[in-house]
Amino acid sequence: MHNFHYANPTQICFGRGEIAAIRTLLPAKARLLLLYGGGSIKRNGVYAQVCEALAGRDWFEFSGIGANPDYDTLMQAVELVRRERIDFLLAVGGGSVLDGAKFVSAAAPFQGDDPWALLADKVPVEGALPLGCVLTLPATGSESNPVAVISRGAAKLSFRSPHLQPRFAVLDPAVTFSLPARQVGNGVVDAFVHILEQYLTYPVQADVQDRLAEGLLLALIDNGPRALSEPDNYPVRANLMWAASLALNGLIGRGVPQDWSTHAIGHQLTALYGLDHAQSLAVVLPSLLREQATAKQEKLCQLGRRVWQLPQQESAALSEACIQHIEAFFQQMGVATCLSDYGLHDACITAVCSNLRHFGLTMLGEHGDLDPDRVARVLARAR
Ligand code: NZQ
Ligand code: ZN
Repeated sequence: MHNFHYANPTQICFGRGEIAAIRTLLPAKARLLLLYGGGSIKRNGVYAQVCEALAGRDWFEFSGIGANPDYDTLMQAVELVRRERIDFLLAVGGGSVLDGAKFVSAAAPFQGDDPWALLADKVPVEGALPLGCVLTLPATGSESNPVAVISRGAAKLSFRSPHLQPRFAVLDPAVTFSLPARQVGNGVVDAFVHILEQYLTYPVQADVQDRLAEGLLLALIDNGPRALSEPDNYPVRANLMWAASLALNGLIGRGVPQDWSTHAIGHQLTALYGLDHAQSLAVVLPSLLREQATAKQEKLCQLGRRVWQLPQQESAALSEACIQHIEAFFQQMGVATCLSDYGLHDACITAVCSNLRHFGLTMLGEHGDLDPDRVARVLARAR
């Protein structure tokens, strides 16, 4: 196990009816901005619960933050924050709204010309407005991590800073009953891939991290399909919401090697062709594992034995069987795994590789040996 530092300062309020807790979590005198997306919170009663909790306060609202939150839209929120001297942000939605609010929190006090520099030039975040959130879609872990992913044209970039860590996160599984099946599947696949990107590298005798990761994967495998077949089952929704949060709150990745190449490649497919975030991951991951099957063989075999309960067999065969189980699980969650399922053909391979080169993402993987030529092979295998 490698050395590590770990703290997760986000206060979690988990369970039915917990939206009411924001009344006590928000500072009494705060000038608040509520940020949300395209309106699902008005249809499922979340907006009404938030309004009730905010009764008697000074607050403004900003809506219309779409999937893969867009820089130009977010800059309108930045203007509103500056004009109205907002000093606390409340994000209510999925990963896109939360990430968008994180960008607004850092961009509003930004002193330079254009806050896009925080992403494009990796200018360090010097400070940000405090942010709290109400999560409506279990998937990204954004509710208790310091990362945000923002899109601008063909660029989909991430930035991170301790200043972006939400102060609190309300996780009420009942608000996820209204999710369409597509977003349930997306959420499970995204969380599953987050765990694998912190697990499927090479062994460093980190038994605690491995067992935590395997436990979370099993919880997703048990509960994911049930959320599709029994959409009103509260314990199923609760287990998914907590598993997705723990999948990317910093815990399971401490002290172990990580490989975020599936996300790096997937972001280009989203930026260029509009695939949902999880769809892009479901296309890339199985082929990427086949490309790296030798380097990742020990962990692939461990995953196959411990999680998929596969019988002992020759390592290469066990690795391939493990990858086939992952692929089948994504399909079971309704997320297709081939480029052609999304109407994409060979031309996309060159475009993705040239985007990766443009953004300097040319040494991916836990060994830094996944260059654009190998990425082209990965995508060709995903046809
Ligand atoms: O816009 P609204 O009306 O809210 O509808 C949303 C949106 O259309 C809808 N939705 C959310 N909660 C709902 C609901 N519909 C009905 N009932 C509910 N309870 O779902 C749609 C998708 O929402 P979105 O927020 O885009 O999905 P997700 O949570 O999957 O977030 C994806 C974004 O997060 C980024 C992705 O790249 C992508 O931009 N990620 C952020 C990460 C992070 N901050 O750590 C890590 C991830 O790997 C990921 O990259
Ligand atoms: Zn993700």
